[in-house]
Amino acid sequence: MRIIRSVRAWRRLKRGGAFRGKDIGFVPTMGALHEGHLSLIRRAKKENDLAVASIFVNPTQFNDKKDLQRYPRTLADDAKKLALAGTDLLFLPDYRGMYPDDYRYRVSENSESRLLCGAFRPGHFDGVLTVVMKLLNIIGANRAYFGEKDYQQYVLIQGMAEAFFLDTEIIPCRIVREADGLAMSSRNALLNPAERALAPEFRRTLSAPGSTDAIKKKLAAAGLRPEYVEERWGRRLAAVKIGKIRLIDNIRIRRA
Ligand code: PAJ
Repeated sequence: MRIIRSVRAWRRLKRGGAFRGKDIGFVPTMGALHEGHLSLIRRAKKENDLAVASIFVNPTQFNDKKDLQRYPRTLADDAKKLALAGTDLLFLPDYRGMYPDDYRYRVSENSESRLLCGAFRPGHFDGVLTVVMKLLNIIGANRAYFGEKDYQQYVLIQGMAEAFFLDTEIIPCRIVREADGLAMSSRNALLNPAERALAPEFRRTLSAPGSTDAIKKKLAAAGLRPEYVEERWGRRLAAVKIGKIRLIDNIRIRRA
């Protein structure tokens, strides 16, 4: 697996013909990789000639400084996992490389980005859309893979790709879960043992019958602090806090 750290180096590789005649499948990540991320890489590899991953903990999408500071960083381990999963190239930029404009220019969406997670994390989706736009422009992939775990993120990126006529096909991928049903997430590693033991209650309660209000009450009764439970895009989506850690999940309720 080759590691490329700058846009300039990536362009040099491209001009040199490294990708000529080859389909690229791209998986953007923020690292702290688990089976959820790796399932995207494997799919990218299966459906394309080259699998490209990126790791960049994007500061502009963190509305909470503490969340950014405690975000797990496990680069050496990540690189090993990516190589094992068949990644050909890892793009590993730094802040100045990604934001030569220091975030003066940004992509924003002014409707669906304000709902659900957007209502609780002001500016979050501007940061996500801006960095994904940059990454898609740099990599020039045929296909890019996104997890349904972050369903609102997927919907907004898909919408952005259509609105700006991006040349990369956006492909949604199923949620990968732990054996106890908890959706895999880099933030799960931050839960203490008691919080981790409680966490599977999230998806269990989300899957129960009843109104979104009833589910919200059940989550609160179980000791999970719900931010929202809402139905949209054929899904029931929710965010909760366990201690200091915020988790999201969603289940399909009907065909969208
Ligand atoms: P990150 O949270 O690292 O996730 C990278 C990709 O992995 C996203 O598409 C996410 O939906 C997917 N993913 C995470 N957990 C998953 C799971 N349990 N099952 C399936 N897919 C899963 O999402 C981001 O990073 C960032 O916002 C990013 C798009 C990289 C922009 O900075």
